[in-house]
Amino acid sequence: MRVSVIGAGYLGAVHAAAMASIGHDVVAVDIDAARIARLQAGETPFHEPGFEPLLRTGLNSGRLRFTTDLSEVATARVHFIAVGTPQVAGGNAADLSYVDAAVTDLLPHLGAGALVVGKSTVPVGTAARLAELVEGAGRGAGLAWNPEFLREGYAVADTLKPDRLVYGVRDAPGAAVSAAVAEQLLDEVYAPIVASGTPKVVTDTATAELVKVAANAFLATKISFINAMSEIAEVTGADVTTLADAIGYDERIGRRFLNAGVGFGGGCLPKDIRAFTARAEELGRGESVAFLKEVDAINLRRRDRVVELVLDSLGQRRYTGRVAVLGVTFKPDSDDIRDSPALDVVVRLRGLGVDVVVTDPRGLDNARAMHPQLTYVATAEEALADVDVAVLVTEWRDYRELDPVAMARLAGAAPTIIDGRNVLQPAAWRAAGWTYRGLGRP
Ligand code: UGA
Repeated sequence: MRVSVIGAGYLGAVHAAAMASIGHDVVAVDIDAARIARLQAGETPFHEPGFEPLLRTGLNSGRLRFTTDLSEVATARVHFIAVGTPQVAGGNAADLSYVDAAVTDLLPHLGAGALVVGKSTVPVGTAARLAELVEGAGRGAGLAWNPEFLREGYAVADTLKPDRLVYGVRDAPGAAVSAAVAEQLLDEVYAPIVASGTPKVVTDTATAELVKVAANAFLATKISFINAMSEIAEVTGADVTTLADAIGYDERIGRRFLNAGVGFGGGCLPKDIRAFTARAEELGRGESVAFLKEVDAINLRRRDRVVELVLDSLGQRRYTGRVAVLGVTFKPDSDDIRDSPALDVVVRLRGLGVDVVVTDPRGLDNARAMHPQLTYVATAEEALADVDVAVLVTEWRDYRELDPVAMARLAGAAPTIIDGRNVLQPAAWRAAGWTYRGLGRP
C-alpha cells in the first residue's frame, strides 16, 4: 500500500521505516530539512537500538523515502499523523498546533477514499474535531485514530510486535470512509501484525484517544505509587525494593514499573499526565483525575530528595567537594534528555554552587546543546576521579556494572555513592569503602 507519514520525529521516523519493512511504499514528510536530509542519507537523528538497519534496509529497498515536500503524499491511501504534541509554554495543556497544521496542510493532497490516521497523543475530542475538517474538505477522505505505545529504546520492537492494536474509527452517517472500510485499511497496513494474533481493539475515536493517555497515566501512577512508598520507607527504615518485590509477586499488581528511584521523565509521561489533567478540567471533570497532580508532585519530590542527599553527603564540603552525576538522559538506551530527572538534578546542583560534572554514554551532545554551562566528561572513570559524592541517576548498563573496588581507587577519601535508581548492590559498594545511599532503602 502507498502510505505517508507526516512528522519524522521519534515516532514518525520509526513508524515509516517499520511500515517499509512490512512491504509498504512509504513517504515520510517533515518541515525540518536537516533532519530529512540525514534520514534520507541513512543517518539516524537520535539513538534508538535497531533503527539504523531498519532505516537503511528501507532506503535500499526503494520503498522508503523522506521529503520536505508535502505534495509527494498525494498518491498515498493512508496518511499517518505523527507530529509532536508538547506541553504548551506556561500551561499544562497539549500544544496542538503541529497536529492541526499537519492535517490542515494535508487536506489539498487527499485523494478520494484516503484515510488520515492520527498516531500522535492528543486530548480526547481532538480526533472528532479533525474528522469534521477532513470530511468537510469534500475530498472523499476520512479519519481514524490509532495511538502508538512505543517505548524509547524498544521503539522498533514495539512498532512491529506491539502488545495490542487500537483502532478508533468513525461511524458518522454519510462519512466518506466508513468505520468498516477504515478497519479494513488499517488491517491491510498492519497485515503481518494482525496475522500474528496481536490483540486488536476496534472502538470509537474518543476511546482510542483515551486509551493512550489512560495507559500513560496508569504507568506514571504506578511509578509514583512506589515512590510514595519510598518516602514512607525513608522515615521508617524499611526497604522499598524488597517491598516492590513482595507486592509484585501478586499478579494483580505485577513487578514491572515498580522501580522506585528519581522518578519518571521523558517526552511523554510528564506532559501526558499534565495534558490529561488540563483536558479533564476543560470537560468539567477535573476532580476525576486530580490525583494525577499528586502523581506529578510525588515524582518531582524525588528529584528534590536526590539533591538533598547530595548536599547532606557533602556536608561541610558543599562548596569544595566534587560531585559526579552518572547519566543525563531520561532513561538508558536513549539520547533523549527531554524532562530528564538526571539533567534536572545536575542543573539544580550547579545552581546551588556545587562543583558537579556529568557523564553519559549517549546524551552529552543533546545536554551540551541545551545547557552549555555544565561540565561534561566522556567517561564514568573521568567523572569519578577524586569524587566525593557520585550519583547514579540513569541506569545505563555501564553504570550498573561499575566495579566498586576499582571506582573507590579513583575516588577521593571516604566517597559516597547515591543510587538514584536502586540498581546497585549496597553490600558490594559498602565493602569497597563507599557510603551507599539509595532511595527508600536503609
Ligand atoms: C512511555 C510509555 O512507556 C510508552 O508505552 C508510550 O508509548 C510512550 O511513553 C509515549 O507516550 O510515547 P517512554 O517515555 O519511552 O515510554 O519511557 P518509559 O519506559 O515509560 O519510562 C518513562 C520514565 O519512567 C523513565 O524516566 C523511566 O526511568 C521511569 N521509570 C520507569 C521509573 O522511574 N520506574 C519504573 O519502574 C519504570
